[in-house]
Amino acid sequence: MQKFIKQIEKCKNLNELEAIRVSVLGKKGVLTESFSKLKNLEGDVKKELARTLNLEKEAFNKAYLSKFKILENLALEEKMKQDVLDFNYFDESVTTGALHPVMSTMDKIVEYFTSLNFSIEKGPLIEDEFHNFEALNLPKSHPARDMQDTFYFDDKRLLRTQTSPVQIRTMLTQKPPIRMIAPGAVFRRDFDITHTPMFHQIEGLVVEEGQKVSFAHLKNVLEEFLHYMFGDIKIRFRPSFFPFTEPSAEVDISCVFCKGSGCRVCKQTGWLEVLGCGVVDPNVFNFVGYKGVSGYAFGLGVERFAMLLHHIPDLRSLFEGDLRLLEQFR
Ligand code: DAH
Repeated sequence: MQKFIKQIEKCKNLNELEAIRVSVLGKKGVLTESFSKLKNLEGDVKKELARTLNLEKEAFNKAYLSKFKILENLALEEKMKQDVLDFNYFDESVTTGALHPVMSTMDKIVEYFTSLNFSIEKGPLIEDEFHNFEALNLPKSHPARDMQDTFYFDDKRLLRTQTSPVQIRTMLTQKPPIRMIAPGAVFRRDFDITHTPMFHQIEGLVVEEGQKVSFAHLKNVLEEFLHYMFGDIKIRFRPSFFPFTEPSAEVDISCVFCKGSGCRVCKQTGWLEVLGCGVVDPNVFNFVGYKGVSGYAFGLGVERFAMLLHHIPDLRSLFEGDLRLLEQFR
């Protein structure tokens, strides 16, 4: 055994050490073979040899382990010398990320309204029927309440289908005057080229004491806003219906793709619908206990704005995380 222990002392790296271990304790190692001879012996002879072999094994293991630690440390030091980081090295293929077009569009809209002193209000994604429907003057029989459009958890709780409930929450906790927007995710049971089950809306609400606020103010604010977003476009207000506003309108802009001459995107009409709005229905004020006030509201889909701003034809591509699309927004 002394011979092997001498070899261990002389050996210079972990590979050599392992070779020595195999030659002693491996399947065909000297010690392994000596141990296997024990089965042919008996009595004191067997005992005596077993004792000697165990002592040798112990001595070998001790030498092996202490050398192993030394060599392992040496190997680590060697590796660290080679792995030095060069902090002056700059790999030009490393690139930074960018805001997702939906988020940058959202930021642009939010910045516009906050610069006009609109506050940003938030509400929960899990809403109840009262805030999402009832207080917004959507009666029990309204089709939007249908299971087919709304993700319900149980009889009362649901994923909000619009950001309009934030109007209600804000009016229930604050006094007029109110000038707010509510950006955030909304959910509907819908999935095709123009619908995804989750998308983003921005709701706007202005309420003043007395009869200070009219449809004319709303029209002016939205026209300025749409010119800011889309530049030189035509705008038209089309009479429409929303349960929470009366009168209500939908707002169209001249098609940003064909400049109004008619194309596939605007279905040859030359117009694209971009938001809904109206004068707040007195029933909504009743639900929140406001008296002697006037107000207007509007709501828009952020994905739609992002698509029109960046000429993205398919809504679903905004949710696929495809780098070929996202890299274009760096
Ligand atoms: N909540 C409406 C929707 O999801 C959008 C909307 C339309 C909001 C008119 C309003 C509004 O505040 O006045 O389709």
